[in-house]
Amino acid sequence: MSIEEKKRKRILTGDRPTGPLHLGHYVGSLLNRVKLQKEYETFIIVADVQTLSTNFDHPEHLPVDVRQVTLDNLSVGLDPEMVNIFIQSMVPQIAELTVFFSMFITVNRLRHNPTIKTEASQHGFEENMTYGFLGYPVSQAADILFCRSDLVPVGEDQLPVVEVSRFTARRFNELYGNVFPEPEGLSGETARLVGLDGQAKMSKSLGNCIYLSDSSEAIRKKLMSAVTDPARIHKDDPGHPEICTIFSYQKAFNRDESLDIEERCRKGTIGCVACKKRIFEVIDKILEPVRERRLKFEKPGLIEDILRKGTEAACIEGDKTMQLVREAMHTDYFDRSNR
Ligand code: TRP
Repeated sequence: MSIEEKKRKRILTGDRPTGPLHLGHYVGSLLNRVKLQKEYETFIIVADVQTLSTNFDHPEHLPVDVRQVTLDNLSVGLDPEMVNIFIQSMVPQIAELTVFFSMFITVNRLRHNPTIKTEASQHGFEENMTYGFLGYPVSQAADILFCRSDLVPVGEDQLPVVEVSRFTARRFNELYGNVFPEPEGLSGETARLVGLDGQAKMSKSLGNCIYLSDSSEAIRKKLMSAVTDPARIHKDDPGHPEICTIFSYQKAFNRDESLDIEERCRKGTIGCVACKKRIFEVIDKILEPVRERRLKFEKPGLIEDILRKGTEAACIEGDKTMQLVREAMHTDYFDRSNR
């Protein structure tokens, strides 16, 4: 093979640009991205094509949302000198790989995928889903494999989709020859963050989020009106932290203090208002540097420059991978005739 072996292990992960990122993204995936950016060569995909798997009728939102998601990634501390942030639709090799992979991934494997099933029911697509929606895990396998990535930091709900990428890599290698590493999924220490309503996970479509771009005041309001343990009417009633949304945030963001808070809640020696004030302070402190970085990156043209550079780097890697793929699949017709 004419292409030199890559030296450092790689990460590929990313987000659909459908709106601002929230604390669920932060604990599920963003923290790992930041922590690992020095150790791994990192590619962050802004998955605009994947957004169209549900929002194909609203492409006009993409330009704003692509910027927003890029800014969110930068604001948590990803260093644009170190990582490549790029736009999915501008890397044609991803589209090419999607077509090749779709020849050998069966419809049944996609139909039975737990993430696809859950998301289809959330969107009311059970009876009538598009080819692109059903196939988004195949396209996501191409997102991950176009740069021969080794590790994929994602929220827990995405692990079954990463499983399709692992299968795709194995199957491709078996059918055509060894081109792809089998990428591993990695989810954060807090696997799933409860939404402010306490009902489900934090999710934009459920409107129960604290966004990374929320102001201090907005976060204070959201936390102070969150539902806690309904059994606590007076502040010295004994509480049940295991069913309390605010306590789950204490565990996720204020681990050191959370044991003490748990004990005091059970005994009724800390009230919900005091507990909420404390978690507000903690979360606000985490988001303060995030807000500062956001301001720095909001300069006109800067996001575009970062995306342009990242997209160029991604296309270079995509080319290298496609050479290997074409050789393995016997579709390097013109190079072949010279050998
Ligand atoms: N499906 C992911 C989400 O909804 C976004 C995504 C697209 C992604 N391509 C990816 C994540 C590749 C990891 C790797 O959040």
